[in-house]
Amino acid sequence: MEIVIVGSGGREYSIGLALQSECKIDGIYFYPGNGATSKLGKNIDFKTQKEFLDFVLMQRIGLVIIGPEAPLVEGLADILRENGIATFGPSAKAARLEGSKAYMKEFAKRYDIPTAGFIQTQDYEEACAFIDTLNTPIVVKADGLCAGKGVIIAQSYAEAKQVAKEMLSGKSFAEAGKTIVVEEFLEGFELSVFAMCDGKDFIVLPAAQDHKRLLDEDKGPNTGGMGAYAPSPLASDKIIEEVKQSIIVPTLDGMAKDGNPFSGTLFCGVMVVKDKPYLLEFNVRFGDPECEVLMPLFKEGLFDCFLACANGGLKNVQYRLSEEVCVGVVVTSKDYPYKSSKKTKIRFTTQNSADAHISFAGVSQEGEDLIASGGRVLVCVGKGNNVEEAVKKAYNCVESVEFEGMQYRKDIAYQALRD
Ligand code: AMP
Ligand code: GLY
Repeated sequence: MEIVIVGSGGREYSIGLALQSECKIDGIYFYPGNGATSKLGKNIDFKTQKEFLDFVLMQRIGLVIIGPEAPLVEGLADILRENGIATFGPSAKAARLEGSKAYMKEFAKRYDIPTAGFIQTQDYEEACAFIDTLNTPIVVKADGLCAGKGVIIAQSYAEAKQVAKEMLSGKSFAEAGKTIVVEEFLEGFELSVFAMCDGKDFIVLPAAQDHKRLLDEDKGPNTGGMGAYAPSPLASDKIIEEVKQSIIVPTLDGMAKDGNPFSGTLFCGVMVVKDKPYLLEFNVRFGDPECEVLMPLFKEGLFDCFLACANGGLKNVQYRLSEEVCVGVVVTSKDYPYKSSKKTKIRFTTQNSADAHISFAGVSQEGEDLIASGGRVLVCVGKGNNVEEAVKKAYNCVESVEFEGMQYRKDIAYQALRD
């Protein structure tokens, strides 16, 4: 069958790369893809959703995998399913788990899912009254999608109130901030747990850890993610089991009960406080760059998992995950994340192999040249029997890349190497 992967980042590239050798797939389209996905398949682009739908129907596409959150929240999966197309990704209603923090928190409260104490409100006075009941620091979140920037950890009461005021007035995040969530600060360590779900059943992938800050030692501004590794040694079997029982199972049950069964990727951002996981956030898609280190850990059955999440029957799918460790180092353009950078030619010598490859993201093609077109340009991925080996392979891969102004962190996976 032919499939379409929706999106244009390293996440979508890594899914395409992992599925490329799948014998059940005759061809992969990327909508819209990037300058490197055209080497894995064919890039397509359309002006309207209708044109895309017509293409999918005419081409008899067997599966559409939706990578990013925006098209999910906008209902692309609904439109495809209404037209009988197997689709990996939740409906717009189920995607509210990511699209609205207020909805997510109320859902967690209703189904007894452990999460930080909170209120959601549109009213400044109410926000202030709740802020006064908390200890500092205090977490203030804009309800809607804010490209990862809508969460502020305020260090004082005055700051929390100021942040709340600016969000509620629409000044900081426009409509997305007109409802806010104010919540207590949880102190512990963070884990990202990914479950592929078919509405009823799920499989849990190795826990991953992202590196949000731009610079080594977690300094500098927040970014989309500067690197990741999986599995994280911090995720004991006991913690993962607890995440399954106290977060994933009640979420799938609750969503089904509410009439919005959840299928696709449920990305649980959790804070582990004294061995107990608390839900910080849900995302309804794979993380980027987490996806780039999870896809290579599938030894068998990845495509069957994607298809079963779309069609049901995940329970009967045979799949096999590697015992290895995978590390991904993000290489960005010069001025990321502050402003866009001048386009520049990329040179690299790494050939894809079983234990090292590049996942391309912010790239375009000009003639025979691959051009860094800005943002997170590519991810160098290494796989090994242990963290040291995987780190070494990932950084060897980075050494093989060259473009003007390239920047990357030198300490990806440091948490796993510390002891
Ligand atoms: P979110 O988008 O809700 O996951 O928040 C982004 C980041 O803010 C998380 O990855 C945490 O580092 C931090 N954060 C969010 N909520 C809390 C909380 N209640 N306590 C401590 N840190 C938090
Ligand atoms: N790496 C975090 C995210 O994709 O949201």
